Amino acid sequence: MTDLAHLFSPITIGTMTAKNRLLMPAMSINFGVDAQGFVTEQLTDYFVARARGGAGMLLVGGGAVHPTGVELPDLPKLWNDACIPSLERMVAAVRPFDTCFGVQLMHGGRQSYHDQKVAPSAIPAPAVVKGTPKALEPAEIDELVAAFGDAARRCREAGFDFIEIHGAHGYLVNQFMALNSNKRDDRYGGGFDNRIRFLMELLEDVRAKAGADYPVGIRINGNDFIRDGWTLEDTLRLAPILEDAGAAYLHVSAGVYGSRELTIPSLYAPQGCFVHLAEAVKKVVSVPVVAVGRIKHADMADRIIAEGRADAVAMGRALLADPELPNKARSNGAAIRPCVGCCLGCIHAVLQLEPGGCVVNPDVGREYLLKDETPPDVRRRVLVAGGGPAGLAAARMAALRGHEVVLVEEGPALGGLFRLAARAPGRQEAGDILAYFEKELARLQVDIRLKTPLSADLIDVLAPDVAILATGSLPDTPIIKGFSKTRMAVYSVVEVMEGDMPEGARVLVLGGGQSALMLADFLAEAGKEVTVLNRGRHFAEEMSSNDRFYLRERLNRNKVTLYKNVVVEAFLPRGARIRAGEKSDVLDDMDALVVSEGMTPIRPDRRLFNDRPTVVHMIGDAKEPRNLMLAIAEGEEIARTL
Ligand SMILES: Cc1cc2nc3c(=O)[nH]c(=O)nc-3n(C[C@H](O)[C@H](O)[C@H](O)COP(=O)(O)O)c2cc1C
Ligand code: SF4
Repeated sequence: MTDLAHLFSPITIGTMTAKNRLLMPAMSINFGVDAQGFVTEQLTDYFVARARGGAGMLLVGGGAVHPTGVELPDLPKLWNDACIPSLERMVAAVRPFDTCFGVQLMHGGRQSYHDQKVAPSAIPAPAVVKGTPKALEPAEIDELVAAFGDAARRCREAGFDFIEIHGAHGYLVNQFMALNSNKRDDRYGGGFDNRIRFLMELLEDVRAKAGADYPVGIRINGNDFIRDGWTLEDTLRLAPILEDAGAAYLHVSAGVYGSRELTIPSLYAPQGCFVHLAEAVKKVVSVPVVAVGRIKHADMADRIIAEGRADAVAMGRALLADPELPNKARSNGAAIRPCVGCCLGCIHAVLQLEPGGCVVNPDVGREYLLKDETPPDVRRRVLVAGGGPAGLAAARMAALRGHEVVLVEEGPALGGLFRLAARAPGRQEAGDILAYFEKELARLQVDIRLKTPLSADLIDVLAPDVAILATGSLPDTPIIKGFSKTRMAVYSVVEVMEGDMPEGARVLVLGGGQSALMLADFLAEAGKEVTVLNRGRHFAEEMSSNDRFYLRERLNRNKVTLYKNVVVEAFLPRGARIRAGEKSDVLDDMDALVVSEGMTPIRPDRRLFNDRPTVVHMIGDAKEPRNLMLAIAEGEEIARTL
């Protein structure tokens, strides 16, 4: 860790000076507005938490300038002056924390989730959102230009320090700019100058209505990463034009719905994946340039600025996972709760039209409910059995609340099955959440006892007031004809991920969920020829689609054969007889079978606590096998009740 002097130096953007160069970028979080789209205490306190955490600049996401452009249902609506009072209240709540607070103005165009979609041309989005948009008439374009200007004026009146125009990610402005979405033959379509006209006109309107001294940044794609999309060459041509037109900064992102590189990449993508695009833009302008894209650590952010690749750095999901990241990084030492790049609680949730959240941080969106939490009046002895994510989260929260906590774990290490999941190729970063918990438990002086099973003797000695049983789960065994007689070597996913690599070259994997696919990837990377038999209709439905996108690509590259909708009629001595739809097949010459299909809870005998006043809770997989998000949320939740 460096002293982070570059990241934590002030930056002047137009007439605004931010105390540091760390920006929380716009994230359409899909909560915190009322039925009219006016901001509520929920959104306000979400931002207050991040302002308090030390970010120099914060952007509200998804500020909708026009009813036709609402991307998701629960985003702030800015098309009427009636929105101003609630925005003013939010600005006033954030003001004491010395953060520059802004709003991103957006119009979703064909990527909006409703039936009144409009776009430059009547061409549906290439992915994610369904439905053909209506092509905009010239008068409607004028109306939308004016809507951006009016919304900007309202933001200024509400007291925001700056605004950002969303010209990236395949939304309306970007749709005008890109050839694949703009087939117009009027002054808004065709050549480069025509395709950027909408952006230039709205920028002019914004400056006329909000004032030429009001800092207006533009978010643009350095590359759409899609056929006939906006390219880096286009960006380098546009950037100086935007500077001349008064843009206060340029924020360089990438990708659209359906692109080769995802705008919100999962942990499989390299950290800092789009910084090179910002770096290229920085060479052609003198206004500040912001870089984004899987920048998770303050030292990486600092290095990007120190090396002159960008002037400021946006960290989105890292600040969902830990709003205190800037303060913690600066004070050097406190454990930072890491974003694990799963995309599940955040972008996947909002694209399912649910409120955004975070797998590792259950407080997202609940800040307003938790701010008045009171400490418990009694200090309890709390025994947590099981050192997986649920147990770790429960132990941490119980200790934070001042209880005396002992955590016992039967195995030799903390982390439970999640530690094994982080061994899959490209997923080591997921294990950072375990390192975070370990550091926190050490700081909070939790008494951790490894290789310690739960026993009557132990309970006698500890005499806990509360026991939290988080003893996890183990793999199911399938009931399929021939399973017990097959001569293939049979393993469970846990055995393989623990290091028991199957002998022989050809391996069958039974299962179609996330663990089965990660296992298939693991085996393929080890040189095995892998065939996956999924008895379900879809693969890894429990993953976010962004994360699954990369995993599927890896499996393709590694030539893993995938069957779905499979009926396994019987396991054979060296394979299986299967039916997939109408097709029957005999898979032969297999050396090993690895089962990764469902988990069974491990539940300690509750009679251990008979005749004791101990209050017993069962959480995590021991209650019902589920994912990391629910394990952590449940652990924290139960400990909050103590
Ligand atoms: C839940 C969610 C919503 C997002 N909404 C927006 C948005 O409204 N506007 C935008 O420009 N980018 C949006 N993004 C993209 C982020 O601003 C950022 O570019 C992306 O998350 C990559 O940065 P990160 O790796 O630091 O998270 C969103 C991201 C997430 C996770
Ligand atoms: S849900 Fe996953 S990707 Fe999104 S912020 Fe949380 S940890 Fe990061």
